Amino acid sequence: MELKKRRLGRTNLMVTELGLGAMDTPTVKEGEETLHLALDLGINFIDTAREYQDSEYLIGKVIRARGGKDFHIATKTFSRTRDGSQHEVDRSLGILGVDRIDIYQLHDVSSLQAWEEVMQEGGALEGLKIARERGLIDYIGISSHSLDVLERAILCGEFDTVMLEYSAFFRDTDRLIGLAKERNVGIIVMRPLGGSGRTSVIRTRMKASGQETSLTPAMLLRYVLSRPEISVAIPGVRYPSRVRENVQVALSYRPLNESEKMECEEEAALLF
Ligand SMILES: NC(=O)c1ccc[n+]([C@@H]2O[C@H](COP(=O)([O-])OP(=O)(O)OC[C@H]3O[C@@H](n4cnc5c(N)ncnc54)[C@H](OP(=O)(O)O)[C@@H]3O)[C@@H](O)[C@H]2O)c1
Repeated sequence: MELKKRRLGRTNLMVTELGLGAMDTPTVKEGEETLHLALDLGINFIDTAREYQDSEYLIGKVIRARGGKDFHIATKTFSRTRDGSQHEVDRSLGILGVDRIDIYQLHDVSSLQAWEEVMQEGGALEGLKIARERGLIDYIGISSHSLDVLERAILCGEFDTVMLEYSAFFRDTDRLIGLAKERNVGIIVMRPLGGSGRTSVIRTRMKASGQETSLTPAMLLRYVLSRPEISVAIPGVRYPSRVRENVQVALSYRPLNESEKMECEEEAALLF
């Protein structure tokens, strides 16, 4: 059985609906094994960033060990200027050891001031467009925690993908998911399990009660994958065992029905 793939909006890339967020992967010694296992099990989408310490470096190491890149990489930069973002693309290419990068995102554009900075003449978007013209990157994306910025990004037509938060804990982006789908903008879901703080509380409670509660990491992943509009969910993973568990869920899940979704949301609201 293979992981199901979905189209990443107007990029037309076919990405596995289960991706991997590599923000924290390099922080443990098993990180390299985790990435190899994810790729061996068929995950074909990895998210990273210039600012995630050693993450691009670790991915580059894995690419070299495998003799080339046969998956999609989305990386991102906090640079807000044209020259800065071009410089960051060059740095990413060098560290990853690749000729071009599938998706380059503007990282965490979460205030209107940051939005104006990246969009203005001489701003970071211009730098990424130059990099795209030079054939160094294929597509341009943006990540944000601001509903206002996300809406502007979806509507302005400049971005092929948006990275937004969505989970049973956080549904404020619900409407934007529909809007992005309508505009053919690829949707990458960050923090699909609600973030590391929440998942560790859930795991502690599961251990303490000695039994499965219904709001498990598996259920949270199912909750996000049950939205057909999203292209890819990128749970943050450090250990190989988590990759196995998440792949198992993605291979075997049945989409949640409305009452199961509501149950998840209610439990999530009670928990935090
Ligand atoms: N653009 C942005 O501004 C931004 C911001 C935040 C995140 N992101 C992206 O989104 C990705 C995911 O975000 P996140 O890591 O903050 O949140 P998350 O994916 O919701 O949660 C990560 C947590 O889930 C745990 N986990 C994963 N699979 C599990 C499983 N099968 N069973 C139990 N626990 C499991 C991880 O465990 P361990 O503790 O064992 O590792 C980690 O603690 C990041 O890697 C990054 O790529 C982007």
